Amino acid sequence: METPLKARIVKSSVNMRWVPLLLVFLQFLGSPATCAQPVRARHAMVVTREPHATRAGLDVLRSGGNAVDAAVAVGFALAVTHPAAGNLGGGGFLLARFADGRTTFIDFRERAPGNASRNMYLDERGALTHDSLAGYRASGVPGTVAGLEYAHRKFGAKPWSELLRPSLQLASDGFSVSYGLAQSMRATKVLSRFPESNRIFLRDGRYFEPGEVLKQPELARTLERIAREGSKDFYRGETAQLFAEAMKANGGTITLEDLRNYKPVERKPLTGAYRGYQILTAPPPSSGGVGILQMMGVLENSGYAKSGPGSAAAIHFVAEAMRRYYADRSEYLADPDFFEVPVSKLLNPRYIETLRASIDPERAKPSSEVHPGDLKAYERAETTHYSIVDAEGNAVAVTYTLNGSYGSGVTLPGLGFLLNNEMDDFSAKPGVPNMFGLIQGEANAIQPNKRPLSSMTPTILLRDGSLYMVVGSPGGSRIITTVLEVILNVVDFGMNIQDAVNWPRFHHQWQPDKLFVEWRHSPDTKALLQSRGHQVEDIRSMGEVSAILVDRGWLEGAADPRSEGNAEGY
Ligand code: GLY
Repeated sequence: METPLKARIVKSSVNMRWVPLLLVFLQFLGSPATCAQPVRARHAMVVTREPHATRAGLDVLRSGGNAVDAAVAVGFALAVTHPAAGNLGGGGFLLARFADGRTTFIDFRERAPGNASRNMYLDERGALTHDSLAGYRASGVPGTVAGLEYAHRKFGAKPWSELLRPSLQLASDGFSVSYGLAQSMRATKVLSRFPESNRIFLRDGRYFEPGEVLKQPELARTLERIAREGSKDFYRGETAQLFAEAMKANGGTITLEDLRNYKPVERKPLTGAYRGYQILTAPPPSSGGVGILQMMGVLENSGYAKSGPGSAAAIHFVAEAMRRYYADRSEYLADPDFFEVPVSKLLNPRYIETLRASIDPERAKPSSEVHPGDLKAYERAETTHYSIVDAEGNAVAVTYTLNGSYGSGVTLPGLGFLLNNEMDDFSAKPGVPNMFGLIQGEANAIQPNKRPLSSMTPTILLRDGSLYMVVGSPGGSRIITTVLEVILNVVDFGMNIQDAVNWPRFHHQWQPDKLFVEWRHSPDTKALLQSRGHQVEDIRSMGEVSAILVDRGWLEGAADPRSEGNAEGY
C-alpha cells in the first residue's frame, strides 16, 4: 500500500534539525486550505465585484495608466454597473502604497449637511424615525467625485476624461444585466418608493431579466459633464444646481452651499504590525483600522490558531477579541476632526494585554459584562471594495459606499445617480442600534459638517518592506471582521489568498450579543460554540472581498465567490 505523503516525508528526514520546520510545512500540507486557485498574473491585477468594472481598470493599466488611474476608471464604472453600491452619490476611502514607499489615505467620506442637527431623526416624542434610512433627508454630502479627482490630480498619469470613457460608454450604450443585479434590483424595497429610481432600475415594475440591457442616459449626461469639467460640475456647476433644486423641492437637507463646501481630506494611513507583517490601514473616521490592529494585538502570541482554521476553539477566541473591540468602538470612535479619538490608547500594548487576559478560552463572556475599556491608565449593508496593483508595484485599495443597498433609494431627477443614506452611520439616537445593529455613543452624534463613523477598512500588508497583500470588503459593521479573518487565514493558517477569501466567516460585534456564523460552518462546530456560551446565529453570507497577494513574483487576485466579482491581470 502506498505510504501517505506526510509519512514518506517524515521517514526520509534524516536530520532532526529540520523537524520543527517540517511540522509547520506539514500543518499547511494537511490543511484543507489548498484547493481554490486565485487568478495569477505577472504584471498587474484588478479585482472588483463586477466584471465590466474590472475590465475598465485593466484596460487603463494595459494602456500605461497607473493604479490610481485604474482606481478612478473602476470607481466610475461601478457607479454604472453596480448601482447598489458603486456611486457618484456616496463616499469612501482610498488607501495607496506606491512602489517608492510613499503612502496615502484619501478620505472622501460624506459629511453631514450644514443644517444637520443632533436630533434631526427623532420625532416629537423623541422616538427614532426612519428618515436616516431612506428618502431625501437620509443623505450626507457625497464625496466620491471630489475624492477620485483629488487622487487623480495628485497621483494620476492619464487624462481625466480618458478615465471616464468606459463608464460613459457603459451608461450610454448600456450593459447586459447579470443574474445577481437582476435579483438585487427586484428584491430591494427602497427603489420602488421613488419615481425616478422606479422608472430607471425597475422599469415601473417590468423588472429586468438577466441578459437584458440597462441603459442610463441621464447618468451618461452627468458623466459627460464630469469628464469635461471635473468635480466643478458636481459641486458647483449644472449637476450641483439640479441636485440642490431637487433637494429643496423634496424636503431634503443638502444645499448648494454644502456641495460647494465639500472637500476630501488626505490623512496618514494608520500603521501597525502583526507577526512581522507591516499593516497599512484606515484611520478614523473609519473604525476599521483601529479595530483590526487592536484585535490582531489581542490574538498575537495568544496561541489561538493552534487548534486550526474553522475550529470552535479558534473561532471562540477571535470572537471574544471582536466582542471587546466593538464595545470600545461604541464609545471611542468618531470623526477625528470633531472628537479626539484615543487611537494610541486603544492600541496600547498594556491595554491590549488586559483585553487578552480577560478572555477565557473555554467560555464566552456575556456582552452585558463587557464594557468599553477604561482608557485613563493608557496615556500614550451596501458598500463595495476593489484592489489594484499596477506594473510598477503601486497598490490601491478603495472601499466606497452608498451605505445601504441602493442607498437612500433616491435617484436625483435628470441626473441618473442614487444618493447615499450615510446619515444612518451617525448615532441618530446615541445608545439605540442603527441599520447594522451597532450601538454608538455621543462621540458619533450628528453635528453639521461632521463625517459619520465608518467601518470601511481598505488595508495593505507589507512583508520585509515589500508589497504583500491588498484587501478590503463591504459589509457594514462586518467589514472589519471580514478583513481581519482574511488576513488571519493567510498569516496564521497558511491559506492561499483564494482559500482565505472563500473560507466561511463569523462575526461578533458586542451588541447584539450574538455570534453570527456563515451557515456553512459545520453543525458540530456550532454546537461546540454554543456549549462555550455563545448565542450562535446562522447568516447566509458576509462580506465580498477583493484581494491581491504578491507571491514570489506573481500577483494573485482573489474575487469573492459570494459576489459576481472577478480578478483579471496580465
Ligand atoms: N456605510 C458603511 C460604513 O461606512 O461603515
